[in-house]
Amino acid sequence: MFIIPDFLRGFAAECSPEARELGLLHEHKAIAKRHRRVQASWAPHLEASRAAIVEAAQLCPPDRRRRALVIGAGDCLDVPVAELAAIFEHVVLADIVVGAEAKKLARASRGRVTCEQWDASGALAGLATVKATLSPADAHLYFARADAGPPPGGEPDFIVSANCISQLGLVPGHSLPAYEKDKQVPERCAKAAAKRHLEWLHARPAAVRILLADAARLDVGPDGKLLKRDTLHERFGLPKPDKLWRWDLAPIPEWSTEFHRVHEVGAWIFN
Ligand SMILES: C[S@@+](CC[C@H](N)C(=O)[O-])C[C@H]1O[C@@H](n2cnc3c(N)ncnc32)[C@H](O)[C@@H]1O
Repeated sequence: MFIIPDFLRGFAAECSPEARELGLLHEHKAIAKRHRRVQASWAPHLEASRAAIVEAAQLCPPDRRRRALVIGAGDCLDVPVAELAAIFEHVVLADIVVGAEAKKLARASRGRVTCEQWDASGALAGLATVKATLSPADAHLYFARADAGPPPGGEPDFIVSANCISQLGLVPGHSLPAYEKDKQVPERCAKAAAKRHLEWLHARPAAVRILLADAARLDVGPDGKLLKRDTLHERFGLPKPDKLWRWDLAPIPEWSTEFHRVHEVGAWIFN
């Protein structure tokens, strides 16, 4: 398989200037690089994500299989694109950064799969214009009041929110000057953006929807002993997930030399 070199990734990726300015292209490249370093550790999580998506897609009745939308598709590591293209007439891969991997999948599909550059938070264009002067108390309001608008490609029968909900406010929040004055800014932005994303998903009851998201963050010692556990999904007002699995996100020494960073990933199905 041809691996796209890092220096070409930036050129090949489509990303709006404001998303680039707010750190999203950098994050896209960082995810791809970490995946290459710890591929074997991520494999069970990626497989579990793809299986959960295919299982949820089967819940769409046969006469409602026109269009699937994947939000936060990224490089489609956790997205079973070929399987979705076999179930639905059309698959839309949406992300704020459309990279070379997603474009390659679209080209190979002969028109069944298309890529859309789309801001699922609806906040980034406005946020970039006021970034320099935004006060720490106001930053999250941009996400709380934003509207992502209609789904790219038209109303879908199936929606996948692919492990992006926690990033929608967190990544841009870290790149705001307001963060230097108040370290809680990214967390408040993350909560506000996640709430709006859930509202957007809930406003589409005609579609089967699957949300993949971090449910908990664990620090695990070299001997396998649990050192720390933070539950994440409750801060977004989510109940217990329908499915849960483990993601060995950053084995020693990726994040720390003292502990493995592990996530529990949940799948919530709204039908
Ligand atoms: C953790 S990655 C998900 C992994 C991805 N599904 C894959 O398999 O490669 C989160 C994705 O959300 C995207 N994202 C972050 N903020 C976004 C936004 N405002 N709108 C759309 N996508 C966004 C990122 O660009 C990234 O591709």
